[in-house]
Amino acid sequence: MTTVPAKDDQEDIEATGGSGIADDPSEISLDPGAVLADSGVEELLATLDAELVGLAPVKTRIREIAALLLVEKLRAQVGLSAGPPSLHMSFTGNPGTGKTTIAMRMAEILHRLGYVRKGHVVAVTRDDLVGQYIGHTAPKTREVLKKAMGGVLFIDEAYYLYRPENERDYGQESIEILLQVMENQRDDLVVILAGYHDRMDRFFESNPGIRSRIAHHIDFPDYTLDELLAIARLMLDQMHYRLSVEAEAALVEYIELRRSQPSFANARSIRNALDRARLRQANRLVARRGQELTREELMTIEAQDIRASRVFGEEVQEPEAAVDDSAVRPS
Ligand SMILES: Nc1ncnc2c1ncn2[C@@H]1O[C@H](COP(=O)(O)OP(=O)(O)OP(=O)(O)O)[C@@H](O)[C@H]1O
Ligand SMILES: [Mg+2]
Repeated sequence: MTTVPAKDDQEDIEATGGSGIADDPSEISLDPGAVLADSGVEELLATLDAELVGLAPVKTRIREIAALLLVEKLRAQVGLSAGPPSLHMSFTGNPGTGKTTIAMRMAEILHRLGYVRKGHVVAVTRDDLVGQYIGHTAPKTREVLKKAMGGVLFIDEAYYLYRPENERDYGQESIEILLQVMENQRDDLVVILAGYHDRMDRFFESNPGIRSRIAHHIDFPDYTLDELLAIARLMLDQMHYRLSVEAEAALVEYIELRRSQPSFANARSIRNALDRARLRQANRLVARRGQELTREELMTIEAQDIRASRVFGEEVQEPEAAVDDSAVRPS
């Protein structure tokens, strides 16, 4: 289980949940622009646009949710509260399409708009929720829920909670508790279930109770070749590296080849490929002993740093390629 604390603990924004009507209505600002600016959400949405390539449908959905919360806040100020909306979500998509990344951003936005008190994320998988022996599951699940209260509970590969092939599976017990809390404490906890599309569909079919409590199903598409390239450029830029013209062409070829392999994990595979290219660049530079390196050289990834990858053919011996963890498991 990992817990990611909220970036800031700003307490100045009051929760939407029926906090009542202001004493002096003339002092209320009902200008959505002003409230957005105040909450810092506009800024968060802007960094989301700048730092995450593509994902247009996901970004649109986040804006819609932000608008809903904002209007609910304004409505509450004039006594029109409809109560906090249900915000449990499911994120479906292939490996490395940004589900975990967006969950973190979402928690921050929900916090800034006063929907959750703390805005931290507790990320878990089945093993954190379900025990091995009778009587272990309920306390385990409750402990996780306690940690997540006031923030977001992110359940990765949620379908592993349900194992129909096991007659006596404790996962069911965990699901029952989650269902209760999703219903009764939805003003203080947002549950995000994540996983691959088809398995998630089957999970929802077998667990209609869960499906009916999920207000937002968000699908994360695979990245296009251009988007993967843009992600590579963005990542390199953030690390102060650049590609030579030839390296850029090599990277396009690399991505085309890598994309057709079964272990391909979208943006994560790009990150891994760049890490290995950095390793090769470092080796290449260190091998040039006795020569001063320029700033330009320290920054530049050359074509050979990309082309030494085993993706280009088995004849290239390259021990570090075996370290590629993108094939193993999602983070
Ligand atoms: N749209 C994007 N723009 C830039 N970087 C991205 C984008 N999407 C993902 N990344 C980066 O790719 C990596 C993998 O993303 P993330 O862990 O969010 O994927 P995931 O969908 O949760 O994968 P998995 O299903 O395997 O858990 C992260 O390093 C993230 O920063
Ligand atoms: Mg993930």
